[in-house]
Amino acid sequence: ARLVLLLSGTGSNLAAMIEACDNPAYGARIVAVGADRPGAKGLEIAAAAGIPTFVEVVKNHPTREDWDAALTGHVAGYEPDLVISVGFLKLVGRSFLERFGDRYINTHNALLPAFPGIHGPRDALEYGVRLAGATLFFVDSGVDTGPIIAQVAVPVELDDTEDTLTERIKVAERAQLVEYVGRLVREGWTISGRKVYIP
Ligand code: GRF
Repeated sequence: ARLVLLLSGTGSNLAAMIEACDNPAYGARIVAVGADRPGAKGLEIAAAAGIPTFVEVVKNHPTREDWDAALTGHVAGYEPDLVISVGFLKLVGRSFLERFGDRYINTHNALLPAFPGIHGPRDALEYGVRLAGATLFFVDSGVDTGPIIAQVAVPVELDDTEDTLTERIKVAERAQLVEYVGRLVREGWTISGRKVYIP
């Protein structure tokens, strides 16, 4: 299966996916990595692995819709079976979702529907929950609202800082991502309402 990964940040999830895809039995290949900012560290990880990269910066387009169309065009050119947001901090728009809405997934560092948005671990810590975690889901037009594929929980320790909790979540999040992307590409999936079935 052909994967396109989108990111804005450091790319530790990308690194885990590159390692997984090295095993032919995994059943997937990363055909491109895209970012919304040229400085995203994940682009260097992709380039070092010989994976083609592209960047679409929102402010280089006259409107958000133009940016969305350009992003859609880039991704479509790689003919992906699955598009994966690994810390891609931009909400995609209508043209992207029309094209890829049935195969665009995101990993979020909180147990949705609690703590959507970009500060999942910080918000969980401030609330005082004793379980945090990560959620893998199909992206819809909302913010972290789409049908859930899988969730993994980790404990919140009383002496956690944002950094220690974030790191504990990321370890579990990467393992979940690798496991479930593999299952999706090898076994297929159907989405029915809010339920995702992997046969
Ligand atoms: C992930 O924890 C994801 O949930 C969040 O951003 C992080 C990306 O980390 N939205 P990395 O860039 O893959 O290291």
